[in-house]
Amino acid sequence: MDIFRIEGPVRLSGKVAVNGSKNAALPIMAAALLAPGKSVFKSVPRLSDISVCGELLEQLGCTVTREANSDLHIDAATIDNTVGEYNIVCRMRASICILGPLLVRCGRAEVSMPGGCAIGDRPIDIHLRGLRELGAKIHLHNGYIVAEAPHGLTGADIFLGGPFGSTVLGTANILMAATLAKGRTLIESAACEPEVTDLANCLNKMGAKISGIGSPRLIVEGVKQLQPVEYEVIPDRIEAGTFMAAAAITAGELKLDRCRLDDMMAVVDKLRRIGVTVEPANNGCVVARTDSIGTADITTQPYPGFPTDLQAQFMALLSLARGNSVIIEKVFPDRFMHVAELNRMAANLRKEGPTVIVAGVEKLIAAPVMASDLRASAALVLAALAAEGTTIVNRVYHIDRGYEKIEQRLKPLGAKITREKA
Ligand code: EPU
Repeated sequence: MDIFRIEGPVRLSGKVAVNGSKNAALPIMAAALLAPGKSVFKSVPRLSDISVCGELLEQLGCTVTREANSDLHIDAATIDNTVGEYNIVCRMRASICILGPLLVRCGRAEVSMPGGCAIGDRPIDIHLRGLRELGAKIHLHNGYIVAEAPHGLTGADIFLGGPFGSTVLGTANILMAATLAKGRTLIESAACEPEVTDLANCLNKMGAKISGIGSPRLIVEGVKQLQPVEYEVIPDRIEAGTFMAAAAITAGELKLDRCRLDDMMAVVDKLRRIGVTVEPANNGCVVARTDSIGTADITTQPYPGFPTDLQAQFMALLSLARGNSVIIEKVFPDRFMHVAELNRMAANLRKEGPTVIVAGVEKLIAAPVMASDLRASAALVLAALAAEGTTIVNRVYHIDRGYEKIEQRLKPLGAKITREKA
């Protein structure tokens, strides 16, 4: 198992290009199932989650290849298996996004029921409710969701809201299924995340008829078939936000290329309020900090609110603020595995239910720490860049799920980081 050895504190400076979005790419890869033939996707990051998704599609009968120019080709001419096996789904929860497209393409889909994960229970009841409203018969058998619609799906008016607001992959599943359903589907309380917008744009390029894109009300006029597509996924706003937090926590200056500030207004607003400058630059922005870090109150929310996927990284950053901050997690109220690890690095964090009081400290101190999930690991790397001494981050396979070769991209910016075998 790999570890990171990180020596701090350092000041990061230089230029870094933001990769394509993992969370946009995964449902878009699943969308390839909707169109017999070869689709070509550009800017798909080379991440372990993307490879797992490729394996899953191959299990169903697709041919998935990464070309020399980095394009990802998915040939979905033949789907000869309708089962998403446990051995793959248990490695990546996002596998659930094959359920809708597989069902509407083949009339049947069996997908292993995803379990909980380090960030919470993560139910999929809303996905199943939406598919049922489109006419699917669904039952659970031996840990598998068995969904059937031998005569196809039929459009319906569907309210997709849940106890924590909208659902990103739930919206993706219902949207994909509705593209080939008979008649019109209205999805109310759809997720508005840029990744959902990207999926909808890709589906329209495949011949779908979706309107209301980017809003909480999506309207889909079902079509008879979709065509394979060539499509470039959007830059990863969470990776961009992580680099922004890296610039801020190290009092550095980073130029981010391929960064869409328009998708990140809540994040940029928080950064500016705590004294970090974020200036648009061609195709990206420059992020810098020269003053001390101000305090902030952050509540995570569905888009356009502050993203839960940057909560841990901003907690690391606010650990070094001058004063007290409050972070409330409203999307995944248990997503706090990083709190105890950051406290091992001399942060002063107190968790009260879904809230963490962050009392700013003067410095963080290196320690051996354990990565627990993707974003928590990113927070530990950020803390280590700013901490005094040598931090060992264990279980970095979590970070490889969502950040491509992060150590190789941080090193040219001034980070003292090495990947080693434990
Ligand atoms: N929820 C339900 N029922 C459902 C579905 C969701 O109650 O059927 C609840 C969840 O438990 C949670 C809230 O609704 O409290 C929102 O969950 P959502 O369904 O939106 O999450 P997701 O679609 O499973 C995606 C991202 C996550 C990101 C969330 C929220 C992908 C592959 N994953 O998950 O990304 O945190 O949306 O924005 O797109 C990550 O990249 O580190 C990551 C975890």
